[in-house]
Amino acid sequence: MKIGVLTGGGDCPGLNAAIRGVVYRALSRGHTVEGFLDGWKGLLDGRTIPVDRAKVQGLIGKGGTFLGSSRTNPFKSEEGTKKVLSTLESLHVDALVAIGGDDTLTAGRELFRRGGKVVGVPKTMDNDVNATDWTFGFDSASSVAVEALERLRDTADSHHRVIVLEVMGRHAGWVALATGLAGGADYTLLPEEPFQESALVEAVRRGVRTKGYALVVASEGAQVASQLKAGEAAKDDFGHEILQGKGVGPYLAALLEKKAGVETRSAVIGHIQRGGPPTLFDRILATRLAVKAVDLVEAGQFGHVAVLRGSEVVGVPFDEAIGAPKLVSAHWLDLLHTFDS
Ligand code: F6P
Repeated sequence: MKIGVLTGGGDCPGLNAAIRGVVYRALSRGHTVEGFLDGWKGLLDGRTIPVDRAKVQGLIGKGGTFLGSSRTNPFKSEEGTKKVLSTLESLHVDALVAIGGDDTLTAGRELFRRGGKVVGVPKTMDNDVNATDWTFGFDSASSVAVEALERLRDTADSHHRVIVLEVMGRHAGWVALATGLAGGADYTLLPEEPFQESALVEAVRRGVRTKGYALVVASEGAQVASQLKAGEAAKDDFGHEILQGKGVGPYLAALLEKKAGVETRSAVIGHIQRGGPPTLFDRILATRLAVKAVDLVEAGQFGHVAVLRGSEVVGVPFDEAIGAPKLVSAHWLDLLHTFDS
């Protein structure tokens, strides 16, 4: 078979490891691999490169994706849909492995519904894809954010300040949760919970009282008043608001300086979280899911996504993996608030 592979949506550490996994498994079974450039955009434009062992050797530890990525939704128009199907046919691609988050997998399901032979591999630093216990990219991005918080601790401690670290994660608070828990924040704000100003101010005052400084972690999607007016936020091709413009970190810093009466700064880590080498966990997870995806192709199990369930990697239908995002659940919130309330 000729197996196509693409990476779509926001990049994250582990994508190269996943492509490499697809390539090694496919070649070892006598197939060839064609890489589509820049996600679904490559299918619209017919831009591909053949991918052999030499192209992926040494890539397991490299961040980003050497195939490129984009937030292109090819099924926004009937014309795009036809283009995708005709590209696959004209290049004689027998099956496609789509590596991405909810948007990429939703596009994959659409292609499957239109007769395309496609399987999915979930990734995202947000860890918000349903049906899989963890997505690769999350561990790496959260580890970077924890390191950032530790650096901010030095400054907060030296200057007796409050520092707010704003992390990404869109409408799921997994990255904020992991950063706050593992970095020992005084308070963590997630999109999943209503904003409780008094609890935040109290936690910050206690931190300052007991150790002379306080650290707050806030998800970019936290439910605080936005600095943007309704409809002002820029949107991507899939209609998602670009949340960095919401200004959660600076908003909280101004509020805390006023309400807690302590000098406060904010730092927005943004895309710094998405680059750099994948952690051990993400390298192994990406590799396992990619190998499973090729196995799903060989078994003719199209319309399925390779996911992690407990310690097993299994295939589940697209419908189980997409739709509503996987949000931080009550038992995680309970754990988090043991340390910040
Ligand atoms: O979905 C991954 C993510 O990093 C989100 O956490 C963030 O809101 C968004 O992508 C940023 O998107 P972009 O890279 O298009 O600015």
